[in-house]
Parts: sequence; structure tokens; C-alpha cells
Amino acid sequence: MEQAWVRSAKLEGSKVLLRPMGPLDIQDCFDRLHRRSEITDWLCWDGPEAIEELAPWYLSWPLGDPNRGWDYHFAVIDLADGEFAGVISLRFYDHASQGDIGYWIDVPKWGRGLASESVSLLTWLAFEHAGALLVYAEWFEGNLGSKRVLERAGFLSDPAGEHRFQKGERNVLVHFHSLARSAWEEAGKPGAPDRVQVEAGERANPHK
Ligand SMILES: CC(C)(COP(=O)(O)OP(=O)(O)OC[C@H]1O[C@@H](n2cnc3c(N)ncnc32)[C@H](O)[C@@H]1OP(=O)(O)O)[C@@H](O)C(=O)NCCC(=O)NCCS
Repeated sequence: MEQAWVRSAKLEGSKVLLRPMGPLDIQDCFDRLHRRSEITDWLCWDGPEAIEELAPWYLSWPLGDPNRGWDYHFAVIDLADGEFAGVISLRFYDHASQGDIGYWIDVPKWGRGLASESVSLLTWLAFEHAGALLVYAEWFEGNLGSKRVLERAGFLSDPAGEHRFQKGERNVLVHFHSLARSAWEEAGKPGAPDRVQVEAGERANPHK
């Protein structure tokens, strides 16, 4: 199935700039994620044990990996101080037209609306430029901050998407929130950046 592909994008709101992850972000990323259970307790992934684990995953899109390059990984930059503040990803690999959003924010920067604005901006990109018909996110039972982030971006709960996940010793209930393209259009296409640069691309190997 053919789908629009974005080569590069910069999306600026009032609190954050989203730009593609680059090699210089990898150390910042490792320092903020490595054994930070406040963050990794809420992710399917347990975080990196070694810094070398990060680049193959987070740089797959900027490096043009023909497969995982369908997953867009953005650095979240805090506009208040210009610092790296976290990562937000929009993933299509293995589920064309349905973008799965995942995110984490550096602990000292929680509670300032950075995740909420990041999700709105990336949802806008997904529908406006990346060919999404549906955008969804999954969150673990108890992660009320993440639930609220999704509600603020207009996502709705879909109990049919609930499932269980084995996270180490814990068997957790995973909730599913989603936003359909039609609902986003009816709401007036919210989340448009204040400033935006999008470079459209072409892929030789459209994914399945
Ligand atoms: C969840 C997370 C991304 C939120 O980031 P953030 O930048 O602090 O989020 P925001 O500042 O945009 O806050 C969004 C809303 O959640 C609320 N919130 C934040 N933490 C909360 C908590 N523990 N309980 C209840 N509400 C909470 C905020 O008050 C805000 O709601 P409001 O606007 O109605 O006041 C961040 O806490 C994080 O990285 N957690 C660990 C990783 C993670 O959970 N990733 C998501 C996996 S699904």
C-alpha cells in the first residue's frame, strides 16, 4: 500500500519544537532514560542498558532505513531553555495508515504541558502529511498523566483495544485511545504548528 512519506519535519508550537532525532541527541537521551524507572515503568521497553542500543532505533528514520524508516522519531526540545526534553515517535511499521504514538518526557520537565503539545503537533503531522487514517496510543493502567495527555489532544477511549502486557513481573492492563482522521477534520484540524517545515519524500520500498 502506497502512503505519503515525510523525509524531514520541524514543528514548533508555543512550548516545544519537534525535530528529527539526530546523532547528537543520543547521549542526552541515554542520560535521561537509562535506569529511570519513573519513565521506563510506563513503557513496553525497559530502556537502554547501553548507549549503543539507541541509535539503530531512534535514528532509523533520519538514516533512511528502508524498513524502520517508516517510524518517525522526534526530539522534543523545550523552547523555554532550548534543552532536549524527551522523545515522541509516530510509528507505521507493520500497520500502514494507522500511526501509533509513543512518548516520554524528562522527569524535571513534567507538568508543563510539553507532552500534551507534542502529541497534538505530531497528530497534526500524521494526518496532514503522513497519510494516517487513524492515530492511536496505548497506556498502562495507572498512568493517569498519559491518559490526560491523550484526552487533551482529542483522543477517545476505545475499550475494544484493551489488552494485557507482561512487563517483567507485572501483568498490566493496557488501555487504548485513538483519534480518527474524520473526527480530527470535524474538530477543525487541531494541533497545527505555529511554525512548520515539512519536506515530503518518496520511498523506493513502500511498506506493507
Ligand atoms: C506521561 C508524561 C509523558 C506526561 O508528560 P508531561 O509533559 O508532564 O504532560 P503534561 O504536562 O502535558 O500534562 C498533561 C496532563 O496530565 C496531568 N498529569 C500529569 N501527571 C499526572 C499524574 N501523575 N496524575 C494525574 N494527572 C497527571 C497534568 O496535570 C495535565 O493535565 P491538566 O492539563 O488537566 O492539568 C510524562 O509523565 C512521562 O514521560 N511519563 C513516563 C513515560 C510515559 O508514561 N510515557 C507515555 C507512555 S503511554
